[in-house]
Amino acid sequence: MTWVSEFRALEDDCRRAPSAHNTQPWVLRYGDDSVDVHWDPSRALPDSDPTRRDLFLSLGAFVETCLIVAADAGLPVRASVSVDRASLRAARLVPDSAVYETPFTLASVRQRGCARGGYAPGTLDTATLAALAGLGADLRQLPSRSLVKPLAAADRWMFGTPAVVAELREWMRLSPKHPRYRLDGLTDRAMAMSRVEASGLAAMIGPRAYRVTRRLGGPALLAAASKGLLRYDGSVLVLVGSAVTPEEVIEHGRALVRVWLALSERGLAVHPLSQLLDCTATGTRLAERLGLAPDEAPLAVFRTGRPLQPPVRSARIPSA
Ligand SMILES: Cc1cc2nc3c(=O)[nH]c(=O)nc-3n(C[C@H](O)[C@H](O)[C@H](O)COP(=O)(O)O)c2cc1C
Repeated sequence: MTWVSEFRALEDDCRRAPSAHNTQPWVLRYGDDSVDVHWDPSRALPDSDPTRRDLFLSLGAFVETCLIVAADAGLPVRASVSVDRASLRAARLVPDSAVYETPFTLASVRQRGCARGGYAPGTLDTATLAALAGLGADLRQLPSRSLVKPLAAADRWMFGTPAVVAELREWMRLSPKHPRYRLDGLTDRAMAMSRVEASGLAAMIGPRAYRVTRRLGGPALLAAASKGLLRYDGSVLVLVGSAVTPEEVIEHGRALVRVWLALSERGLAVHPLSQLLDCTATGTRLAERLGLAPDEAPLAVFRTGRPLQPPVRSARIPSA
């Protein structure tokens, strides 16, 4: 048995990597002595993610997850990150002389998940911050309450932008009857919505109703629903970095999943709030507030803390 076939048997665990809207954009192509990580353009989010920041962060999270899963199985594998836009290849996994050094295990990969319900009050302690500092991510902490208004503005922008809503509609699975409920996208359960909330959202952003609700204040109403999300004394972390090339963004995605795994191992969950960055006005203000240099940008924003309910296990497409 070659390392490639051994690795192939682990693909379902690699697929536990997080991705924006749970699109799972990765495609693995197996060679004799290498595994190429490509992406499927039909799983990108051209309107919500026009710069492809989230696409490449997600691919980075996937690459790092592959390395952790391989390391746990004792397979010496490393990643060569190099984006080829013609063949849509993000990276190549190749044999290495030693097993990838990581503090994370298969168990951490399987356990990690986002939690979008309530969080217990409390900010990250210094020991946790110190542990995160060693993971290769530049993280800035903000009090959750300080982002209540920006989040409301970003949500109004998100729910008021037809193309972004169309992508949400495409990837939301608001009823267990949805044919792809167990495969991909954002389920009502993962979004911590009650059946009534999920039906209400489906009714408001349905293609025909949205044309009317959008003009009648629907976006403000939907934004109001998430107002309470940050109204507690909690932590929001912002991942900051230079992200000029897609390779750089992939490296930040690798660091991002390391941070999420480290938090998860401490019983702390994350809830990304990418709309704060996707909305140009709130993204620009956030960068100003953090005093970022011209070559730096906020790349990911997420609240983190002790969730009142454990993360819901999200759907994944099984390996072929
Ligand atoms: C780059 C990136 C951006 C994300 N942005 C958001 C977001 O704005 N809101 C959100 O609720 N989840 C966001 N997520 C989380 C994904 O929706 C989540 O990873 C996916 O649904 C799979 O669920 P899991 O992480 O619980 O396994 C993001 C994830 C990544 C990797």
